[in-house]
Amino acid sequence: MPEPGTMLTRRALLKTATAAGLAGLGAATVGRLAGFAAASPDPLLLQTASIQAQLMDGAPTKNVLTYGKSGPPPVIRMKKGEAFAARLINGIDDPTTIHWHGIRVPNRMDGVPFLVQPYVYQGDHFDYAFTPPDAGTFWYHPHCNTLEQMGHGLTGVIVVENPHDPAFDAEVVLNLRDWRLGDDGQFIQQFRPRDAAKTGTFGTVRTANWLDQPQFDAPAGGLVRLRTAITDVTRIYAFSVDGAEVAVIALDGNPVPQRFAPDALLLGPGQRLDLAIRMPDQEGAIVSLRDVRGTKPKILATLRSVGTSLKRDLRDLAPLPPNPVAEADLADARHIALALSATAENVPADGICGSLGYSFWAINKVPWPGDTPDPTAPLAELKLGQSYIIDMENLTPHSHPIHLHGMSFKLLSSSKRAVSPLISDTYLIQPDEKVQLGFVADNPGDWLLHCHIIEHQKTGMTSYLRVM
Ligand code: C2O
Ligand code: CU
Repeated sequence: MPEPGTMLTRRALLKTATAAGLAGLGAATVGRLAGFAAASPDPLLLQTASIQAQLMDGAPTKNVLTYGKSGPPPVIRMKKGEAFAARLINGIDDPTTIHWHGIRVPNRMDGVPFLVQPYVYQGDHFDYAFTPPDAGTFWYHPHCNTLEQMGHGLTGVIVVENPHDPAFDAEVVLNLRDWRLGDDGQFIQQFRPRDAAKTGTFGTVRTANWLDQPQFDAPAGGLVRLRTAITDVTRIYAFSVDGAEVAVIALDGNPVPQRFAPDALLLGPGQRLDLAIRMPDQEGAIVSLRDVRGTKPKILATLRSVGTSLKRDLRDLAPLPPNPVAEADLADARHIALALSATAENVPADGICGSLGYSFWAINKVPWPGDTPDPTAPLAELKLGQSYIIDMENLTPHSHPIHLHGMSFKLLSSSKRAVSPLISDTYLIQPDEKVQLGFVADNPGDWLLHCHIIEHQKTGMTSYLRVM
């Protein structure tokens, strides 16, 4: 059950921050481990487990996966520029890893099996340690048998705090995702091949923080920072907010150049949305975050005004400090052509890390096998320190949230619309769209580039860039 009435004040946030966001979770499986390597902070323990969870009315769902003992994966709090460490302990009968989506980590911490690290088998562990260079909203998930592991629950949100962020009166973190459950509340087949060849297979039960439409109390007239991550394996959202003045302040972890209202703003799997919401003055007033895409709009979560109005003004909110992402030198940039297409024929592809046995999609005409022990050659070899422009073209009739590991890019242009120079790690490319993404190849290693609709990723739309 949701905990309506949870007042997320700044004080509560500070408390949560000191407890590393672990309140209520078993100390044995998610906690701090003493005596880790000197000079690193105590690692956060993230132990995968198979649990039961109440995801809809009726019987609890069996074989739900999480980090910890019960409930959703914890919101992990890190601080920009401060060392972070975590020990992944694998408690499930399936090899796993953790990828820190959007965080510019050193390559060997990136969590991609075979490319950068070995599998973590049941009973084994792997130590992650890095210093997040950027503040913002990020998330974490396995990069192994991802459709199954993420589909069953292994997706969590990361908040990287910046002490120089403007002060809010409250913060709410939302992990948006669906579940493929039957009427009996149990998992059904995770995908249908005919859907994988189109938009991907949608879940049947939609949740925010594993709850149906949770409600949060927030101070009347106060400013709320609503951090949202789409951790679903398939669904693209169109966000709108009713009942309050609201502005988009960050996308995909990075402050937006100019604030705007989220008027059916389209974001895909892997993307994050940070909103500043000015709560209504009147006690009891409700603000709702909706997904208005498709024929069945859905209220995702609501906020309720409580107390006497703080009378804050959205216009007083200072800008978020920018993240230290290197600026590409466009005059000197080299180009990487990237064409996304459907494959002419479906050749079953083999792979041992959860490949789905089909290939429907291709990058530059190659249907990539996905995570395999012997990945094919990189899509391109990049020179460390050199500026690049990805010329990406979508030749398919579907949208694809294309995610680059390890480096952030800037949106330079689109053939479809006027764009603002957003900095991001995931771009939701529309059918027939051509875009240019500029970045500096400043992080050495092998970096995946893939569609974050996991069925697309696993049936051909995965590749990688080598920076050396
Ligand atoms: Cu969310 Cu390959 O990543
Ligand atoms: Cu796709």
